Amino acid sequence: MVGVNTPLSRYDRARSYQWNYDHAPNQLPDLEVPPYRGSWRLCGLPVNSPLGIPAGPLLNGRWCLYYARLGFDLLTYKTVRSGSRPCYELPNLLPVACATVDEHHPEVDESPEMNGSWAVSFGMPSSEIEVWQRDIRATKAALAPGQLLSVSVVGTIEEGWDMRRLADDYARCAQMAADAGADMIEANFSCPNVSTCDGQLFQQPDDAGLVAKLTRDVIGQTPFVAKVGHLPNPADAQRLIESIAPFVNGVAMTNSIATQVRSQDGHLLFSGQKRGICGKATHAASVRQTESIRKMIDRLGIRLDLIGVGGASTAADVQRYLDAGAQGVHMATAAMIDPLVAVKIRQTVQHNTQSFPSDEKN
Ligand SMILES: Cc1cc2nc3c(=O)[nH]c(=O)nc-3n(C[C@H](O)[C@H](O)[C@H](O)COP(=O)(O)O)c2cc1C
Repeated sequence: MVGVNTPLSRYDRARSYQWNYDHAPNQLPDLEVPPYRGSWRLCGLPVNSPLGIPAGPLLNGRWCLYYARLGFDLLTYKTVRSGSRPCYELPNLLPVACATVDEHHPEVDESPEMNGSWAVSFGMPSSEIEVWQRDIRATKAALAPGQLLSVSVVGTIEEGWDMRRLADDYARCAQMAADAGADMIEANFSCPNVSTCDGQLFQQPDDAGLVAKLTRDVIGQTPFVAKVGHLPNPADAQRLIESIAPFVNGVAMTNSIATQVRSQDGHLLFSGQKRGICGKATHAASVRQTESIRKMIDRLGIRLDLIGVGGASTAADVQRYLDAGAQGVHMATAAMIDPLVAVKIRQTVQHNTQSFPSDEKN
């Protein structure tokens, strides 16, 4: 049982992104958060636990501070751009009916109720630079010791731009996020919900390497993570990792699994374009990818931290990612559905008498 003295806020998927941005929790929950056993580091920085929120649910600083009070220690500020951009129309979050999704599932069906997985369709909206920079500065100052603020950035392609200009835009965003006080930068190399090349960089190893290099050049020693998508083919994964590894400290995976979505009355939604499926159904494929990339980088002698993302909602799911070789485990869907998920995971870990990999390291 978790005792909370304040009502808990949740993202309201029936309302717009802007409404949810404007109605971020303004009261911080008051509850006992058990410590997470072991000692933890991510990309060289000490952190109180391996539990984090990936880019998505934390629309602004108030959402970051809210989840920081609920037992998450790596807070990823939702992807920002070098200029403002509106969100796609509703639905932004559409429940889907599938127990599991991977490269063998070209489409999934809409579901009348949420059973752990949904199609995500935001298009990476962003506020103006000055707004997010001010917010990041204030958020960083309000976090507790051992809690890290990562800022997710993406380049915005303009008509007529070549890859070099897009890479410069990524780097510019990253530099501004680092200047605002981000502990860590995450470059989003995978957004299945945009059709331009900024969404598919993880499938273009040379371009991803250029973006990673230019970003590293401007952020200095700031820890730097690349967020990548679903890479079922090990040779593709190796090409990407070899290209970005000289410039990044870590890789977060996966940014959902892209499929078409069919409505309950049988037509293709989102004009037939793919959308990223997030939540429970992606867990097995994301753990498999984490394990396979860990084995590959160890074999190649490449030093990178890994962040497991996709479908985690229990202590066993978190342990599965850690066993697969991840240093951090992030939850978006589960934390949006149940804001107490990290507290419950901590309680389970506290009562578990088995030894954990992190106990041995320390
Ligand atoms: C509401 C929502 C918004 C998201 N927005 C972003 C984003 O802006 N940038 C990004 O890299 N990933 C985004 N994602 C993907 C998540 O970071 C994460 O990779 C994905 O949800 C899988 O984790 P989960 O199964 O725990 O939800 C979003 C996901 C959700 C649910």
